[in-house]
Amino acid sequence: MASANATYGQKESSDQNFDYMFKILIIGNSSVGKTSFLFRYADDSFTPAFVSTVGIDFKVKTIYRNDKRIKLQIWTHVPLKKSTQIKTYSWDNAQVLLVGNKCDMEDERLVASDRGRQLSEQLGFEHFEVSAKDNINVKQTFERLVDIICERMSESLDNNDPAVTGNKQGPQLTEQPQRSHQDCAC
Ligand code: GTP
Ligand code: MG
Repeated sequence: MASANATYGQKESSDQNFDYMFKILIIGNSSVGKTSFLFRYADDSFTPAFVSTVGIDFKVKTIYRNDKRIKLQIWTHVPLKKSTQIKTYSWDNAQVLLVGNKCDMEDERLVASDRGRQLSEQLGFEHFEVSAKDNINVKQTFERLVDIICERMSESLDNNDPAVTGNKQGPQLTEQPQRSHQDCAC
């Protein structure tokens, strides 16, 4: 299962109740636990029955970083057939974490932890073993993703990176009606 941030640092003028909005995709094969991972994080709930998602799941959660409201839009998404396809999702302005769910089922493990570690090293992504069922590392994984995005935003804003600023005319993230953000304070 891979968590990807599709876009980041966007401000939508229609909703003033946040400083930044991050879009997060949860990608992985059917039954790996994408919905469960999302629901554990967003609602602190877990259902043992397997009801395969028709379409996509979607949740919104607002968190805070240094007095900034960050709205997370979290989607669960398409199947992932081969590990190499993870690269398909790692476009330039997305941050990716590799997540191995169901770590509570140690005896029935299909992917050795070494293999997970090796794959994440190969791909250059951080790797988390989690359990949506037992609520292990779920919040930590999302928090880490948010931190990585914030770090990347700060670096990119410092460098006036077009991947963040959106165009050459000025940083999108500083387009605030009442105040301006020259730096990400995340
Ligand atoms: P699709 O919607 O078909 O893509 O599947 P999914 O990836 O959303 O999987 P889902 O969250 O529906 O979970 C599949 C099954 O695994 C369900 O029966 C869950 O209860 C179970 N499951 C999910 N996470 C865990 C976990 O951490 N531990 C254990 N033991 N079971 C889990
Ligand atoms: Mg699902």
